[in-house]
Amino acid sequence: MIRVAAVGDVHVDADVVGRFRPALSDLAEHADVLLIAGDLTRHGTLEEAKCVLQEFGNLPVPVVVVLGNHDYQSDLQQEMSDLLTEGGLTVLEGTGVVLPIRDQCIGVAGVKGFGGGFPGRTAAAFGEPEMKAFALHGEVSARALELALRNLDCDIKVALTHYSPVPQTLVGEPLEIYPFLGSYRLAKAIDNAGAAFALHGHAHYGSERGRTPGGVEVRNVAHPVIGKAYSVFHLGGTGGTSTRRRLSIASRRRRPPGTVRRDQDG
Ligand SMILES: [Fe+2]
Repeated sequence: MIRVAAVGDVHVDADVVGRFRPALSDLAEHADVLLIAGDLTRHGTLEEAKCVLQEFGNLPVPVVVVLGNHDYQSDLQQEMSDLLTEGGLTVLEGTGVVLPIRDQCIGVAGVKGFGGGFPGRTAAAFGEPEMKAFALHGEVSARALELALRNLDCDIKVALTHYSPVPQTLVGEPLEIYPFLGSYRLAKAIDNAGAAFALHGHAHYGSERGRTPGGVEVRNVAHPVIGKAYSVFHLGGTGGTSTRRRLSIASRRRRPPGTVRRDQDG
């Protein structure tokens, strides 16, 4: 059994430093890895990214993150990724990481994702170039997630995104903004690639639980939704949840080029 701690939308700035860290002091007693589902900062500045490292750097477990839309606000997303990576975090964007934990290994594939909406109300790549660009960006992001998930060689595959793959975890948000909060294409990628579990943020007023059309459990771990420093999910082990039942689907031993393997830090 692997213990996955997760949170999103921590929106760290100087005035937030110290809000999460005390609750992380005993993280290793509760979790084997910490996943952060984007919106690490408020305005995507490098000063804020340094504050993120103060809060989430040098932890006793690996920390794996995707960026969110706020982290793109200053057009410094690459510089931010580099800074966070130098600080010991693993930043995913169309990529994956495999972490051996005891006798199992967990693979996490991540993208920021994008909007586009859900069946019956989706954006189409038709008409103005701006509309085409909007729809295609979501499609490209979902394709990148599917490829990154397929390339993982591990026992348990987890999809980490900022935008939501399903509408159930958006319940509580105004219906009018659903197309800007997620895309069904992400769920399709998750189902096609045989992920066991999916985590996202972005929907601050949304709901915690959802499920893809293919039956994969989805959790919205936006900090305002979970109301605590992190939630912990137990994946793998014997018997139990549908997450565990899907492990046979997720198991692939082939390791294609480009799959990252990283040893557990503690
Ligand atoms: Fe957010």
